[in-house]
Amino acid sequence: RGKRAFIAGVADDNGYGWAIAKSLAAAGAEIIVGTWVPALNIFESSLRRGKFDESRVLPDGSLMEITKVYPMDAVYDSPDDVPEDVKSNKRYAGSSKWTVKELVESVKQDFGSIDILVHSLANGPEVTKPLLETSRNGYLAAISASSYSFVSLLKEFVSIMNPGGASISLTYIASERIIPGYGGGMSSAKAALESDTRVLAFEAGRKHKIRVNTISAGPLRSRAAKAIGFIDMMIDYSLANAPLQKELSAEEVGNAAAFLASPLASAITGAVVYVDNGLNAMGVGV
Ligand code: NAI
Repeated sequence: RGKRAFIAGVADDNGYGWAIAKSLAAAGAEIIVGTWVPALNIFESSLRRGKFDESRVLPDGSLMEITKVYPMDAVYDSPDDVPEDVKSNKRYAGSSKWTVKELVESVKQDFGSIDILVHSLANGPEVTKPLLETSRNGYLAAISASSYSFVSLLKEFVSIMNPGGASISLTYIASERIIPGYGGGMSSAKAALESDTRVLAFEAGRKHKIRVNTISAGPLRSRAAKAIGFIDMMIDYSLANAPLQKELSAEEVGNAAAFLASPLASAITGAVVYVDNGLNAMGVGV
């Protein structure tokens, strides 16, 4: 049987989640995705209307199939956690079962099990503010959406993940080096995500034979990155300074994720794998 992958954080065809889905599909995996509730309608209607057909093309010429799209909001674990104003929000009221526990329960009912869990989501409401000007709420929101969301997803999914399975998240070098402009506690959130990758690799490895890795990706002009506001500068900086002077494509990150999720990487767990044209290895700009 082919592997089944759940990819959390796909809402268009520009981000890393989409590219990872494609690489996994090209390797023969069945693809199911989780889409942030406020982005669900537009994503599903665009899919239906064929807006993504060009970017669905796989190397063999076939189109990537997404077996099912689930609504999700990874900052809520169960309905009890959802505040009234969100519950009554028109976009949220139009969907159901989008908290993490309910989502995993639905996937279990529909498919029984998965082999690969991909976390490709982040959110920091105050990302454009320096850390020194970040509010407690903004900081905690960044951690909740960008770090604990992975703990929560793995915690719930691990019970329906087949032994030998793997999970992958996306991180950024701002966790370990100063990247001015990546604010709002997002640098802190990525540091937590990387540390959790190690601890969860131990816990999920021992208990469930599941591997846990994270990809430290170079800059990509995704929707989320454009919202931060400095993405063009980061791409130019990488072009000027990285060992490999080419623009990073989402597909390169997708392919690394497919490798890490595959048996080819069966001894790799707890790792931060750089897919950034080598920029992380530089000590100074050139
Ligand atoms: P993206 O915009 O394609 O993906 C972010 C996704 O997170 C969106 O689909 C959004 O709807 C979803 N999301 C936000 N809050 C959510 C919530 N509460 N529940 C569920 N989904 C939620 O952007 P991108 O850049 O591809 O981001 C994917 C991952 O890659 C993120 O973890 C990001 O930090 C990471 N990354 C991105 C880099 C870049 O330059 N674009 C560089 C290094 C890491």
